[in-house]
Amino acid sequence: MCYAIPAKLVAIEGDKGIVDYFGEQRKVLLDLDDVKIGDYIFAQGGVMVRKIPEDEAQEILKTWKDIFFELKKTDEVMSKINTENMPENALAILQKINLRQMIKKDEMHTLLELTDPNELKVLYEIANHVRQREHGNASCVHGIIEFSNYCAGNCHYCGIRHDKNIPRYRMSIDEIIAAAKDAVDTHGFKALVLQSGEDYWYDDEKLITIVKAVRKLGTLVFVSCGSRSKETYKKLYEAGARAALMRFETSNPDVFATLRPGTTLADRIQLIKYLKEIGYVIATGFIIGLPGTTTDDLVNDILLTKVLSPDMYSFGPLIPTEDTPLASTSMVTKDLVLKTIAVSRFVDSNSNILVTTALETLDVEGRKEGLLAGANSLMLNITPMQYRKLYAIYDGKVTDNQEVTQSIQDTVDLLYSLGRAPTDIGFSCNTNTEGETNE
Ligand code: 5AD
Ligand code: SF4
Repeated sequence: MCYAIPAKLVAIEGDKGIVDYFGEQRKVLLDLDDVKIGDYIFAQGGVMVRKIPEDEAQEILKTWKDIFFELKKTDEVMSKINTENMPENALAILQKINLRQMIKKDEMHTLLELTDPNELKVLYEIANHVRQREHGNASCVHGIIEFSNYCAGNCHYCGIRHDKNIPRYRMSIDEIIAAAKDAVDTHGFKALVLQSGEDYWYDDEKLITIVKAVRKLGTLVFVSCGSRSKETYKKLYEAGARAALMRFETSNPDVFATLRPGTTLADRIQLIKYLKEIGYVIATGFIIGLPGTTTDDLVNDILLTKVLSPDMYSFGPLIPTEDTPLASTSMVTKDLVLKTIAVSRFVDSNSNILVTTALETLDVEGRKEGLLAGANSLMLNITPMQYRKLYAIYDGKVTDNQEVTQSIQDTVDLLYSLGRAPTDIGFSCNTNTEGETNE
């Protein structure tokens, strides 16, 4: 199974390189290895992860060549907009989007409140079209290892919050490294998210050992271990982590303070900004449907994500979870999540937008529909099976019983059926000309 395309380095500018694969050029960060023009590399999320010998690269490119152009064609056909029967307000938005103009706050609000199925269909089609225009058929597939469900935090929505009485587990350093090695060597992952609750059993020294070892496997290391100190994140960057996943959860400071006792939105944002400053590739976002939030909050959530200029948007619906203070909150609709994906795509056309497991948990078709509403990224749960069910941040997580080989196969089948190639190599070399603000 091959879900990364080797790229050839065609230019170097400081610590950035321009790589080419099948005539497409992307920008990548080259800071982890000695490379020269003409080398073949694997890159993920805009970061080079390792060099590949030329003969190996040529072999992989040969197997990709035919399918790559076939997939592109499928994607182009599937992302065409059908302008027949298009409602008037949708036509006006399409025009703006085609002119690469920003939609305004009140327009975002209007789109997020659409309910007519015909209008929604058009909204998703336009978002899918913009995704194709900005990214081609490239999509990213990262693996996630949930290595501990201990958490010092007590977030009201979360199923592994400190006060919830659940069986806890912690993977040993060796277990984490072995799981990562299996993901890279057996399954071919090029980017791994290492996620846990805020578990201080893993001190800086342990985390550094893990990051160094996983980085050495030739993969992008994505850390997601909560509001640890700035110093910790700096050390992890120095150890080789290059990406960090940290949601701000909600842009509403009062809701934040209520649902995340003892913490503030301002501190969380400051930390996310700091991670960006250090040089991390950032994934951030929010939860849709937290009690006390409105459509205006959702507009602000999308705009705050944009302000933080992440490399990846990560948001999903609240899944009310037993024995948590939000157990009886009502569930949002799948369409609200799809609308949020579409509007995020319009507001930040060049972003990577993740379809999160929570959307799949809400609806079995969620993953496919998310990818057709403007999203272009996926994460596969590769936590060792004996721990999967225990990382129960919410009830009914769909990935609980999926064997890795099967979920890779299902994902590749889905991506191919939509004409997508799992080739998240780097950032587009095109520049965008959006001028307006969202006010
Ligand atoms: N529903 C949806 N998402 C949740 N998270 C935690 N609990 C829930 C829930 N009940 C999300 C938070 C956190 C991420 C790891 O999981 O956004 O950042
Ligand atoms: Fe802990 Fe994160 Fe859950 Fe909050 S959301 S309780 S910090 S795992």
